[in-house]
Amino acid sequence: MPALVLLGAQWGDEGKGKATDLLGGSVDYVVRYQGGNNAGHTVVVGDQKYALHLLPSGILSPGCTPVIGNGVVVDPSVLFSELNGLNDRGVDTSKLLISGNAHIITPYNVTVDKVTERFLGKRKIGTTGRGIGPTYADKINRVGIRVQDLYDESILTQKVEAALDGKNQLLTKVFNRRAIEVGQVVEELLGYADRLKPYVADTVLVLNQALEEDKVVLFEGGQGTLLDIDHGTYPFVTSSNPTAGGACTGAGVGPTKISRVIGILKAYTTRVGSGPFPTELFDEDGEALRRIGGERGVTTGRDRRCGWFDAVIARYATRVNGLTDFFLTKLDVLTGWEQIPVCVAYEIDGKRVEELPYSQTDFHHAKPIYENLPGWSEDITKAKTFADLPKNAQAYVKALEEMSGAPISAIGVGPGRTETIEVNSFL
Ligand code: GDP
Ligand code: IMO
Ligand code: MG
Repeated sequence: MPALVLLGAQWGDEGKGKATDLLGGSVDYVVRYQGGNNAGHTVVVGDQKYALHLLPSGILSPGCTPVIGNGVVVDPSVLFSELNGLNDRGVDTSKLLISGNAHIITPYNVTVDKVTERFLGKRKIGTTGRGIGPTYADKINRVGIRVQDLYDESILTQKVEAALDGKNQLLTKVFNRRAIEVGQVVEELLGYADRLKPYVADTVLVLNQALEEDKVVLFEGGQGTLLDIDHGTYPFVTSSNPTAGGACTGAGVGPTKISRVIGILKAYTTRVGSGPFPTELFDEDGEALRRIGGERGVTTGRDRRCGWFDAVIARYATRVNGLTDFFLTKLDVLTGWEQIPVCVAYEIDGKRVEELPYSQTDFHHAKPIYENLPGWSEDITKAKTFADLPKNAQAYVKALEEMSGAPISAIGVGPGRTETIEVNSFL
């Protein structure tokens, strides 16, 4: 049972970092397969808190090899500062492997991300401003810079020239900015080459050989299902495929190797940035979820938009990812509400709709239809087994499981590694 995918079932920030770290002690490799340093994964180990952006959360487990796959976009300056930060805290990062085919977030792509958002004004996506979209656009336009390009100066120069040709026209003529010089970019990128070198590997070969040897490989998604470029709330999405299929393309592992797909699901819903969000709350309940849940972005420091649990979205995540399990997080945050509304379906233009509409217009019009579930007031943060939970908390979990279409195999009752109830084993 060697390959597992762990991914966000909602709009990101479900607690993927914590879940990955929890499993990290029992797996051989943890692989990021898409996204970049737009991710913010918080891991709490004892009294230590780590915020990871680009590095796989498995980096905190000494026995585990962390891998940055070909589908990831890498900002070398962020990578180095993250590595330095961990090394200063005594974390050994020497086992890290980075695919030579991963694309590099160049300084001009960070600039393009920021100016494009400014240009969009009211219609902005609310990106993290880390250059993610423009870097994936260059990849698809075949003018991207890959990690391996840093080791051939002449090829690198040609590629940066090709990438900047069009961009400089855009920057100077449309965005009224100064042109970016090829030489300056090449010099900056070459400056990263030596330090990156020991990590660069043929990660596709490494991972497939590991799987042949029955090693356990965990693919850690960034972002979430509803932020997927194909299956999310386009255009208010990220520019990669956080859904399960992304693990195959973003790491070079065939679908026949994947044995389990775990969706990380918050017991309520949050979203950062623009876009539709049917169960969003603008009242004191929303404020309370934000406060109690500590819902502030790890990457950008923005307040997260908060709302009740949406079972339509959870069912959708089960379908597009082929989820085998859910890991329900932050159940403890809901302690204290007398009644907890859960969205079971939408009303769209007067009709009841049970499944996520494919039409963006319909989704923008979707109004949640709520069912109220009875709440609990007992502290659940010390619960170790399902039976330790108050009856109403058990019923809440069971109701979510029933509505969402896959078994809830673990329940988070606090941010720490040990604050987890394991219902079914993942390994
Ligand atoms: P990720 O991007 O999916 O890794 O999630 P984030 O780290 O951005 O946000 C999740 C936040 O919830 C982090 O601060 C975690 O420490 C915290 N967290 C994770 N699981 C639980 C849980 O079960 N209970 C509580 N109270 N906090 C949790
Ligand atoms: P983790 O891995 C929540 C959102 C941004 C924006 C949209 C596009 O911590 O769950 P981008 O910079 O990717 O082009 O921005 O996606 N977004 C996230 N929201 N969690 C994340 O990552 C996110 N990464 C990107 O807010 O709406
Ligand atoms: Mg996050």
